[in-house]
Order: sequence, then structure tokens, then C-alpha cells
Amino acid sequence: MTSSRILKILCLHLLSGALVLSQELDYIDYDIDDNSSPKVPRQSVTQQPDYDAQIMYSYECASECFCPSSYPFAMYCDHRKLKAIPNIPRHVRHLYIQHNDIEKITSKPFINATSLREINLSYNKLQSSKVDKDVFSILKKLIQLHLEHNNLEDVPSPLPKALKRLNLGFNKISKIPAEATQELTKLTVLDLCSNRLTDAGIKGKILSGMKSLMQINMCNNKLKSMPTDLPESIQQISLENNLISTIPEGYFKKTPNLLSLRMSHNKLKSVAYIAFNLSKLMELHLGHNQLSKPFFVPRTLEHLYLNHNDFKDLNISLMCPSLDLGNPNMLTFIRLDNNKLRGPLDYYAYRCFPRLMMIFYGNQRKDDEDDSEPQKYEKPKRPGATRLST
Ligand SMILES: *[C@@H]1O[C@H](CO)[C@@H](O)[C@H](O)[C@H]1NC(C)=O
Ligand SMILES: *[C@@H]1O[C@H](CO)[C@@H](O)[C@H](O)[C@H]1NC(C)=O
Ligand SMILES: *[C@@H]1O[C@H](CO)[C@@H](O)[C@H](O)[C@H]1NC(C)=O
Ligand SMILES: *[C@@H]1O[C@H](CO)[C@@H](O)[C@H](O)[C@H]1NC(C)=O
Repeated sequence: MTSSRILKILCLHLLSGALVLSQELDYIDYDIDDNSSPKVPRQSVTQQPDYDAQIMYSYECASECFCPSSYPFAMYCDHRKLKAIPNIPRHVRHLYIQHNDIEKITSKPFINATSLREINLSYNKLQSSKVDKDVFSILKKLIQLHLEHNNLEDVPSPLPKALKRLNLGFNKISKIPAEATQELTKLTVLDLCSNRLTDAGIKGKILSGMKSLMQINMCNNKLKSMPTDLPESIQQISLENNLISTIPEGYFKKTPNLLSLRMSHNKLKSVAYIAFNLSKLMELHLGHNQLSKPFFVPRTLEHLYLNHNDFKDLNISLMCPSLDLGNPNMLTFIRLDNNKLRGPLDYYAYRCFPRLMMIFYGNQRKDDEDDSEPQKYEKPKRPGATRLST
């Protein structure tokens, strides 16, 4: 079996429940709302006349844009070098206006756009000071707002309360004001990766108001400590490539629903022995830190990344203090390369983690060898895998 084949099989293992945890840095795309994406045309013009539906939409379309008859609720204005948002007809639910040169947004083109569910404004030149304050909040049905790859310095606020997905990645945001998030009780995914967030910028009661939040992405920022005030609903946390050096004792007590924690490329030196004693955790990425002490591995954990750390040995009896054959540990994959391990893994690992299918042991560093961090963060390549022989 080739290693990619093995990985594919592993991926299949992950297809448990409704969630698909992807193995690499791409985070889950939640299917937020069946109505939110125009994949299946509701109404096609070639269908039998349905006069009610015809009242709901029209052939109206901004002259700069394209409104396909097969997706009668969508207006495509992407890749057109637009400098302003054209007037949006009343029936439009999905506005695709990404990849333009828009710096500025006023309320005027949105005056009739009360049906909007989704706006993709990514890859524009939006500046916070040029975005009218109330432009989004009047869109009562807006569920998805994509503002990634702009020049925003602030989280736009106020935002509509119905919003479920907010993408703000690749902007210049350094802080989140409390009033921007308190009302977003329906939000499930918040993406703030690749911004300029600091600890001070997210201090206070910022996140807990988002009571439905399942996924928070704050990778590639300047955080030195764990975000405080996460809501209990959170299932996935992405904090890769920050400057976080500790996880406070009992930190995850407030987040009992956590499924996945991604914290590779930080400055973690140690974590409390029972830091990850969580009853649902499936995926733990701690590669490229400075860890050297083992910690308790919860029963549900399937994937553990400890590559590029400072482990000299791995005391399996500490990671797995008790054997419960009726309720075995779920660990299937562990990555250990680029530590300072001196010998093979204790054979006890295979008893305590009976589902272990793959250990990626790779190269180990000499005791005195530094694991100098690469200058720039790069998405790690999938490792070649060694198969465990039993
Ligand atoms: C809003 O709709 C009205 C009536 O259909 C129309 O006259 C007006 O031009 C529209 N305004 C904008 C900004 O789309
Ligand atoms: C928004 O546009 C970007 C850029 O083209 C694209 O990658 C992304 O998939 C779009 N998102 C949605 C939800 O349409
Ligand atoms: C983990 O937490 C559970 C209950 O929350 C507790 O019973 C158990 O002893 C803890 N495990 C460890 C190793 O501390
Ligand atoms: C692992 O840790 C336990 C508890 O501290 C200790 O008794 C045991 O000797 C250690 N095992 C190894 C192989 O170091």
C-alpha cells in the first residue's frame, strides 16, 4: 500500500458523525444553511409558470453584472475592475462581487436589497473608514459575509443578527470591539486568520456573546496568549502561527465541546498534564512548539501532531494511564518527527492505543541540535508515512 493510500483510508476514518475533519490546515466548511447557496436553482425560467415565484424575482440585473437564468437569485459581478457596488435589485439573494477594486461602500446600492443572504466581497480594497456604518446591518436576512483579502482595519459593526458566517481573513484588523460581536448570537464560523490581532485587541467580553459559535480561526496573528472568553459552543479553534507560550490551567473547562485544536507554530513550552482532558477532542495539532513533557491523551483523540518539538522520550504510561479494553483509546495517527527521541516508542503504546495505524517517526534531532524555525510560516507538507508493523 502506498502511503497516500494509507492516508486516504485514514481520512475515511475521520468521516464520523456529521463532521469531516480535514487533515491539513484547511478548516471545515460548514454547510451553514441549505438556502444560503445557490447550488440548486429554486426556480428555473424554463419550468412551468409559477406566478407566485415570478413575483418574487425578476430579470432585473445591474448592467455591470451577470444574472444567469439558471440561478435566478444570484448576481455575478466578480472580476470586473468595479470601483463601486452597483444597485442591487430586490430579488437578489446571492451577490458575488469578489475580485474588484472596491474601496468604499455606501448604503445606497443596498436600499432595495432586502433579500440578500450572501455577499462575497473578498479580494477588493475595502477600507474601514470608507465603509458606511449601517450598510450591512439593514440586511436582515444576511447569513454569509465574505470580506477576506481586503484592507479592513476594524470588524464592521453593527452586523446583521442573522449572520452565521463571517470571513475577515487577510485584512489588517488588530482589535475586535465588544459591540461588534455581542449581538451575533447566530454566528457559527468566524474567520480572522492573517490579521494583526494582539492580546489587547481581544480583551474583555468579546467572544462569549456569540453563543452559537462553533469555529473560530485566528491563525497567523500576533497573539501571545490564548483568547479568553470563548463561548461554550466552540468546537474548533485554529490558532496556528501565533506567539502563544502557555495554556492556562483549566483553560478548556469552559469549552467542553471542543473537537479540534490547532496550535502548531507557537511557542508552547509546556502544558498542564490534564490540559486536554476533554471528552470530545478528536484532533490536536501541536507541531512546531517546544514541548518536552507528556500529557494525558483523552480517549476520543484520533490525530495527534507533536512533530518539531523537544521530546526526548515519550512516557506512554503517562499519556495513557489506564487500559480500558471495553472503551479503548481512539488514537489512530501520531506524528513525532523532528523531536529528540532516542529510541522507538514503548511497545505499550500499541496496547494502550489499539487503533494506532500510523506513527510518523521520521528524523529525530541530536540532543544539542536546534530546531530553528523557518523564517516564514509555510503550510506544512503532508509527511510520507511509515506504516506500523504489528
Ligand atoms: C429601488 O427600487 C425602486 C423601485 O423598484 C427603484 O425605482 C429604485 O431605483 C431602486 N433603487 C436602488 C438604489 O436600487
Ligand atoms: C468568494 O470569492 C472567493 C474569491 O474568488 C472564492 O475563493 C470563494 O470561494 C468565494 N466564496 C463564496 C462563499 O462564494
Ligand atoms: C478527566 O476528567 C474526568 C472528568 O471530567 C475525570 O473523571 C478524570 O479523572 C480526568 N482524567 C485525568 C487523567 O485527570
Ligand atoms: C513513566 O512515568 C511513570 C510515572 O511517573 C514512571 O513510574 C515510569 O518509570 C516512567 N516510565 C519510563 C519508561 O520512563
